[in-house]
Amino acid sequence: MESNIQKVHSICEKALNDGNLSKEEILVLLNCPEEYTDIIFQTADKVRKKEVGEEVHLRGLIEFSNFCKKNCEYCGIRGKNKSINRYRLTKEEILETAIKAESLGYRSIVMQSGEDPFFTAEVLADIITSIKMKTDLAITISAGEFTYNEYKIIKDAGADRYLLRFETSSEELYKKLHPDSDFHHRMECLDNLEKLGYQVGSGFMVGLPGETPEILADNLLLLQKLDLDMAGIGPFLPNSDTILAGASGGTLNNSLKAVALARILLRNAHIPATTAMGTLDPKGREKALQSGANVVMPNVTAQEYREMYQLYPDKICLNDDPAHCRGCITRKIEGLGRVVSKEHGHTLK
Ligand code: 5AD
Ligand code: SF4
Ligand code: FES
Repeated sequence: MESNIQKVHSICEKALNDGNLSKEEILVLLNCPEEYTDIIFQTADKVRKKEVGEEVHLRGLIEFSNFCKKNCEYCGIRGKNKSINRYRLTKEEILETAIKAESLGYRSIVMQSGEDPFFTAEVLADIITSIKMKTDLAITISAGEFTYNEYKIIKDAGADRYLLRFETSSEELYKKLHPDSDFHHRMECLDNLEKLGYQVGSGFMVGLPGETPEILADNLLLLQKLDLDMAGIGPFLPNSDTILAGASGGTLNNSLKAVALARILLRNAHIPATTAMGTLDPKGREKALQSGANVVMPNVTAQEYREMYQLYPDKICLNDDPAHCRGCITRKIEGLGRVVSKEHGHTLK
């Protein structure tokens, strides 16, 4: 019988050239004792280098509204949370922020919000059209669930990409955490985005209460099955304004293993070193960049709004402005011997 650590070695060796790991093999890596996990991270780093190279793509994140009609149990801006102030940027403010992002050297922005009924597909389309007229930015939208026709309106206005995490692959867990959402509907949304020709990103949180290694392995296999252009993974961080306040969150090691496995399974997808990773550990984003990630999404929202957009507590960069974050992240990336891309960073699929 091969020992477990020998198994980890042989699976990693195979993974260098072949991303088709079985669920059993994924579980061996997920259950690998912490003192041996470096080999998984190094394998993912080699796959990243071979498949997407040394460039790190920056996406400037504009958090344009923290209103949300939904009530995901883990989220600090869920509609029923009465203890936060709500804000909505105007069209002019969003446009200004986008122009500012471009002047800071970003080639791409992500417009993110809660599910805010004010921002209908038509309203978003109007804003996207204006940004496209005034800049050469690639635009990603991350504003939740819409109908096929609404997604079409947003796409036709010029949106290039859409992010919609499935959060967990377990239908049962999904149901527990999302009182006003349906797992199958979520899948249908992802399917519609794909059909409409968006570059599609999805992903999940690591360490949600009730998550098992089996579920985590299935999350990774679902990413692979969806054949995504982008995959966002971050630890669940318990928020004191929610009923999950007392839960234990995702760990750094498990989150890094999930990023590494996503790289191994998805090969050339764009994978961010997420803000949640940087919140969990001061070096979390750097560690993710050395374990398979090739994207960072620094905040370009004006500083005054940042504290109101806390999906989870202690989010990094709360007291920093866009120019500061741009410089900070460049130094971090270059400190790792990597380079900031000057391209739009479109899909490599
Ligand atoms: N901890 C970590 N990530 C969270 N998100 C929402 N709430 C939390 C939390 N408490 C993530 C979800 C969502 C993304 C925008 O933020 O995965 O899709
Ligand atoms: Fe709203 Fe998204 Fe938070 Fe759910 S995770 S409550 S949809 S902002
Ligand atoms: Fe915001 Fe470092 S990226 S301060």
